[in-house]
Formats: sequence, structure tokens, C-alpha cells
Amino acid sequence: EKGGFRSFMDKEIHDQPQAITDTLLGRTDLQGRLQLDDLRIDESVLRAVDKIIVIACGTAAYAGHVAKYAIEHWCRIPVEVELAHEFRYRDPIVNEKTLVVAVSQSGETMDTLMAVRHAREQGAKVLSIVNTHGSTIPRESDAVLYTHAGPEVAVASTKAFLSQITAAYLLGLYLAQLRGNKFPDEIREVLSDLREMPAKIQEVIDRADHVRQVAESMADTTSVLFLGRHVGYPVAMEGALKLKELAYIHAEGFAAGELKHGPIALIEEGQPVFVVVPSPRGRDSLHSKVVSNIQEIRARGARTLVIAEDGDDAVVPYADEIFRIPVSSTLLTPLLAVVPLQIFACELATAKGLDVDQPRNLAKSVTVE
Ligand code: F6R
Repeated sequence: EKGGFRSFMDKEIHDQPQAITDTLLGRTDLQGRLQLDDLRIDESVLRAVDKIIVIACGTAAYAGHVAKYAIEHWCRIPVEVELAHEFRYRDPIVNEKTLVVAVSQSGETMDTLMAVRHAREQGAKVLSIVNTHGSTIPRESDAVLYTHAGPEVAVASTKAFLSQITAAYLLGLYLAQLRGNKFPDEIREVLSDLREMPAKIQEVIDRADHVRQVAESMADTTSVLFLGRHVGYPVAMEGALKLKELAYIHAEGFAAGELKHGPIALIEEGQPVFVVVPSPRGRDSLHSKVVSNIQEIRARGARTLVIAEDGDDAVVPYADEIFRIPVSSTLLTPLLAVVPLQIFACELATAKGLDVDQPRNLAKSVTVE
């Protein structure tokens, strides 16, 4: 069943290009306009939405966090992302104009399900982004957008994460289209960029040897930090989560801009730090700010493991290792940048002799609160 791979996780990392292809499949009409027929929610309801709250747990919540940047940019609707177990207990402000987006691979996560029920009781519309057909969360939602990642067996989520981002992006583009977004060309462009992602993800997977070698050399590591900014921030959080759950190594993700507000105190000689570098072609000089961060931590002894776009030479003087990803538009980079981090966690855990498909203390779907 593992199709020749050492583990389900390894297989599912390799399934990612197909998972994205399948999640995109059949969702545009002949004119290239998005068509989310399976959504079963009235267009007028979606046009009236004035706030979106994404609820999810763990990796699915990081997918929501990535999507927030994109949906706010395309739709100009405020998007909050909240852990499902926190949402429910804090008296959230929701009404009929709130669209609650529940993201879940299994569709059975009890924390997320309880938050869905709570949101509906408060009058919100709930749209779920779910991978497992016939599961409980879509049954209890007003609308559903399925990810088509195929069954995910390994406990640690990989291909579901990429397809959750993809589906949430489709939702964002669809809302933008419905609401007469002022940049129809941009929507078309993003859709065509999305279609190029499977091939680019495959390129990252094909470059896995370097990550594997570095991971194998780090089997004795006790702490790894992850930094990212903008959409790279949730990617850093996800990289840290993967390493914790698979390799049982203390790992923490930070927003790179937060470094000087505290976390930089953790940097000492030899501390490994992954840095997800924004595209040099992106806006707001984020790239140079993150390059400065790399310089700062390196000067304090950090071992810098840098994820950077092909051709980004500015990082070279400050990087101990560089993991290259193909050039893509800023909002799509998480689909590429997370892949070396998944492979790193998987390989490091394997090097430690651990079972990557069944990490200790974890279950694939958490059906208790
Ligand atoms: C991490 C992981 C978990 C799940 C979380 C939500 O690798 O798998 O953090 O993402 O438990 O699960 P779903 O998506 O099934 O609701």
C-alpha cells in the first residue's frame, strides 16, 4: 500500500503534486471562471459576508493562517483565524453575515465540530474545507468544499495541508469573483499560477537529497527554531510542529519580525534556525528585512538553514545551508517552502529510528475534546 515508499508519510509527501492537481480539477468553467458547484450555498449569502472566521486545529489552522493573507488581499473581507477549541469558549462575535470556514482533514475533529455547532447556533453560516467524504463536519455545515488529497494515513498531515491551502485559495478567489473584485486579471493570473504549482512542488521533492543529508547529520539535535514572515510565518509554525510530532525535538516557530522582541535571546553558538525567506520580488522590502534577521542571528552563532527562491543570491553570505525552491508568486510560496520542512522532519525522525507514521501519543483523528 505504501507503493514502494518507506512510510506512508514519505508516500504522502510524494503525493502532493497530484493532491493539488486533483483539488484544482473541474473547478473552473470553459471561460476560466471559478465554478464551485459542490459548494451548495447561495451566492447571495456569500455576497453579503462581511467577516470570515477560520476555525481549525493544528496543521489545518496553519493552512487557515496562510489563507488569511490571500483572502484579505483578494476580497478585502476581514479574516480571523482561530483555534477551534478557543473559539467556542470565548463568546465570539458572529452573526448571519459571518462566514465561518472550518478546515479539517478528517472531518471528525471534535474540537472543530463543536466550534461548527457553536457558530451555527449563533447564526453564522459554516462552510467546511474537508478531505474525508461522508465525515461529520461537512454533514453539519451549510456548505462544503472538498480537498481531493486522497486518503491521508500518516498521522502527521502533509498533502492535506497543501490541499487545504489550495482549496481555501479557491474559495478566496471565488468570493472575489462573486463580489466583483477590481482585479479580474489578477484572479485569472493566480489561477494559472496555481496550475503550475504541482510541477514546482515536484521540483522541490526532486531536490530532497540535500535536505535528507542535513537532517541525517542532525539526529542528535535537541532544539530547532523556525522563522518566517508574512505567509512564511505559518509555514515556520508548521515546520516546527512537524519536527515536534515526528522527531520529538523541541521546536518553535516565530514571526521573524518578533525576533528582537524576545526570541533572539535564545540564539547561542550552534543553535539551528530555519528561515523561510520571502521572495525578493515581493513587496514592502520584506525580503531584505528577513535577510537582515539571518545576518543578526548568524552573528550570534546560529546555524542558519535557509529556504530561499532560486536565484536569490542575497542570502548566500549568511546561510550555512540553502534549500532552494522554484520562483513563484508570493502568496503561493507556502506550497513550496513547507515541503523541505516536511522532508526534514520525516528524515530526521527516520534517522533517529522513529516510526514516522505513528508518532507516540498521537492519533490521526482527535475525536475527543
Ligand atoms: C499535524 C496534524 C494535526 C491535525 C489536527 C487537525 O500533523 O496532523 O495537527 O492537523 O489534529 O486535524 P483535522 O485536519 O483532521 O481536523
